[in-house]
Amino acid sequence: MSSHIKISPSILSADFSKLGEEIISLDKAGADYIHVDVMDGHFVPNITIGPEIIKKLRPVTKKIFDVHLMIQPVDLYIKSFAEAGADIITFHPEATPNTLGTIELIKKYNKKVGISLKPDSEISLVENILDKVDLILVMSVEPGFAGQKFMPKVLPKLKKLKDIIDRRGLEIDLEIDGGIDFENCKAAIEAGANVLVSGSTIFKKNNGDLKKNIDLLKSS
Ligand code: DX5
Ligand code: ZN
Repeated sequence: MSSHIKISPSILSADFSKLGEEIISLDKAGADYIHVDVMDGHFVPNITIGPEIIKKLRPVTKKIFDVHLMIQPVDLYIKSFAEAGADIITFHPEATPNTLGTIELIKKYNKKVGISLKPDSEISLVENILDKVDLILVMSVEPGFAGQKFMPKVLPKLKKLKDIIDRRGLEIDLEIDGGIDFENCKAAIEAGANVLVSGSTIFKKNNGDLKKNIDLLKSS
């Protein structure tokens, strides 16, 4: 079992009428992080949840809240997400006029910083700031919806990032997000991912057996 692999289940595929219970179940099933997809209907064509819900969910688990912001503007909302209990705050560089400024803002609240690259976003967007972030999220679907098909074309980018990170001796989580299943997770890990986000596979496969699905992803 690849014990260094962390699983960050996306609650986008959970039953929203009982989010608290779903997160407790993920906690018990061995999730490492809880991936919270925040969408605004502007940066992406879907609307999900905001800081008030995260705040209500915060007491149900001690697990790391891995908050993936797909919103624009970003800076305006960092304080709310930080105070709601996010542990890692990940944003898209295209959604802010000043990436460094947004990084500093997140750090001001003592939160970990993540930067997300859409499938066509270039490494050059993050290359010069790798030493300032805790996580890079590589998207393997276009952001917006759960249940989309994994795009293998992002694997070379993942590998390149992994090489740069290693060459510089940095300790950064390299997270892959979108369409991850029991098959393609192997290629993602091989390319260098150490955190796997998964919504549909964890909540829907094997009759929704969360523990089994988390274990299967980890053992790939
Ligand atoms: C997509 C989100 C992902 C996605 C994961 O915009 O960032 O986290 O919902 O769900 P699956 O694993 O179903 O692609
Ligand atoms: Zn996500």
